[in-house]
Amino acid sequence: MEPIVARSRGDLVKARRGDAVVALVPTMGALHEGHRSLIREARVRAGQVVVSIFVNPLQFGPSEDFSRYPRTFDDDLNVCRAEGVDVVFCPAVEDMYSPDRQVSVSAGHMGTIVEGAARPGHFDGVLTVVLKLFNLVRPDVAVFGQKDAQQLALIRRMVADLDLPIEIVGAPTVREPDGLALSSRNRYLSADDRRVALALSRALRAGAAAFTASEILAAARAELDAAGPRLGVDYLVLVDPETFAEVNESHAGPAVLAVAARTGATRLIDNVFLTLNPG
Ligand code: PAF
Repeated sequence: MEPIVARSRGDLVKARRGDAVVALVPTMGALHEGHRSLIREARVRAGQVVVSIFVNPLQFGPSEDFSRYPRTFDDDLNVCRAEGVDVVFCPAVEDMYSPDRQVSVSAGHMGTIVEGAARPGHFDGVLTVVLKLFNLVRPDVAVFGQKDAQQLALIRRMVADLDLPIEIVGAPTVREPDGLALSSRNRYLSADDRRVALALSRALRAGAAAFTASEILAAARAELDAAGPRLGVDYLVLVDPETFAEVNESHAGPAVLAVAARTGATRLIDNVFLTLNPG
């Protein structure tokens, strides 16, 4: 069936079914196999699947890639059609944000550390748009990728702190056969940049094969260093998946090894979920 394309709030209200479990997959478009896996997770859980496509200006810093972020609506619609999506919500910026808007969501301290330290204000922008999408679509379930692990943790935090009646599902990162995590930004990579970028997934694999916190970080760091000066590492951290606070040798339980690095003009992030000192 052809997805309903809802370009405005009014279209969305008309398209929303009252009698079905509704799942939302929020995206910024440039859909790839990773998004397809989120859509499939949503389909398993819901009678109506809504995919939002909105490049959210609030989450881009002044020197970031908002204007050149890939906008590929026709291809995205084909992906949604192939995946049996029911509704594609693609509002205009003016429809989402009035020029006199005042109030936004603060991601708090957690929004200022790790990825938030590198991108001030980014997570406030993400949470603001996600809360608006939740209010507009009113989903029962929303699906996000674990590739953006800090974003996922913050969305879970927002849902808990603001008592939102929505189940948040985290879906595993989808990778190319050589390990590169799928990302809409991969299309910016030259062949050489792409080769250099493979150091991220190599570092995470090396870290995941080690045991203690310091060995994990050392093994991952060695792989990043081996990539040479063409890889500019922003951070490599081992953190608690719920708080994103750094963990130490005594930590027992789940942890995330997260990395951000630049190659050429492209900044990439990646992570792996681990268990430290299991029982
Ligand atoms: O992960 C993304 O694509 C975006 O941050 C999101 C959740 C769609 C909000 O704009």
